[in-house]
Amino acid sequence: MTAITTPSHAQGLGEEASIWFKLTPLLRGNPHNPLQVLLQMSQRYDAVIAINMGNERVVFLSEPEHIKHVLVTKVDNYVKYFDGLKPIFGKSMITHDGAVWNKIRMPQQAAFHPDMFGEYIPYFLEAIRAKMDTWAALAKSGETVEMVEQTWTLAADMICKALFDRQMPFNPHVVFKCVKTYTDVMNHKSIRLRRQSGEDFEVTDEDAAKAMETWWEVPPAVIAANPREDRERTLLKMIEACVADPDIPEFDEQQALDEIKQYLWAGTETTAITLAWALYHASKSPEIAERIRLEGETVYGDREPAAADYSALAYTRAVIQETMRIYPPIWGLMRVAAEADTIGGKDVRPGDRIVMFAYGVHHSPKYWDEPEEFRPERWLGEAAKKRKPYTYIPFGGGKRSCIGGAMSQVENTLALSMLLRRFRPEYVGVDPPGIHATVTLCPKGGLPFKIRELG
Ligand code: HEM
Repeated sequence: MTAITTPSHAQGLGEEASIWFKLTPLLRGNPHNPLQVLLQMSQRYDAVIAINMGNERVVFLSEPEHIKHVLVTKVDNYVKYFDGLKPIFGKSMITHDGAVWNKIRMPQQAAFHPDMFGEYIPYFLEAIRAKMDTWAALAKSGETVEMVEQTWTLAADMICKALFDRQMPFNPHVVFKCVKTYTDVMNHKSIRLRRQSGEDFEVTDEDAAKAMETWWEVPPAVIAANPREDRERTLLKMIEACVADPDIPEFDEQQALDEIKQYLWAGTETTAITLAWALYHASKSPEIAERIRLEGETVYGDREPAAADYSALAYTRAVIQETMRIYPPIWGLMRVAAEADTIGGKDVRPGDRIVMFAYGVHHSPKYWDEPEEFRPERWLGEAAKKRKPYTYIPFGGGKRSCIGGAMSQVENTLALSMLLRRFRPEYVGVDPPGIHATVTLCPKGGLPFKIRELG
């Protein structure tokens, strides 16, 4: 097998200049949970750790007030960092800063207002019902499935139906694998290292390039697909209105395609990983699964949940919140310092790469009792309301916080409740599962499950 020249769009994630690449040596040492090394460093040494790496520094932050400083107080000094992820996101809102970001985000914000959730819920339920049909067949066949793939296909279906008014115009299993191939930093790193040492290699840049080609076909397919109901108030309609608006010349047709890309990645993988980890905990602790079932029975009985039921599903929602505490899907928030600054008494230089270590804050014994314990109860009652700000940042914070965070909790709470009322998904993999820290925090090798239908 011969090495293939690198297509430009496959570069980035594994190149030496990339923050993802730079972090890989720090993620060694504990193959089961690579974040343990960083966690110990953040607890043992200073709150602000600056590490020289080649010609630039990476600065780790794991104190809530330092994170607030970057996300809120001096937000304009810390710009987004997207090397290597441009092929996934294009020039969508998530990659921009300043006035352009504002012009792109503001007209889409209304689609994520909690008032809209009631309109979306019937479409979330439709997607969950379709997933239940799949699971009923899987329960009969007894086949083993990978749960993140199962929940990704569900999350993508929810976005297409609720936000785009479309039937998924792509094979979600194929697209899921493409995204996974591309975002696994280690794939890129091993390609680069093998090429450098003149070795032949089997994982080729072409795999990454092909993955991205498939990915780029998705947004035009979404736009071209027939609307399911021709609803007036959908995110896709808002995006189309932006393209037609002469006051936002930045919002051209490519912007529309890239916004769709962004939603189908930022809005699916994170949501899917969370639901998959929550199902793992429900499988390992039958009492958690039972409490979720009982709550569903009490709140919505034999009918399906409606918008008004969501707030009453407090325990189920707490399971989702606790899952994102233990496994924040975005384990590190990345920025680049534009100008010199001081954080926690330490100098920050222009060009420093900032990593806000969400996993570290979420696992800090300073802010959480028994932080390694999965305890949904910590989200219930008065104590939960008194939590120190910026100790829980699964959705980031400040003006750049996740646009879809609240919506994802509705999706996952409803899905967890409904799926567990009919099924007993049983985790059949290595226990506890290993962690794979790439761009997101994934289960290492996935989460294999067998699906059982409750009698
Ligand atoms: C469990 C689910 C989710 C998690 C954990 C999550 C996490 C995050 C985080 C941490 C950020 C901020 C990144 C930073 O500051 O660097 C972010 C931004 C964003 N998320 Fe989410 N997200 C989730 C679900 C969603 C959903 C459902 C959507 C939309 C359908 C979405 C769309 C976005 C967008 C567009 C941004 C960029 C916002 C901006 O730059 O202004 N996310 N997300």
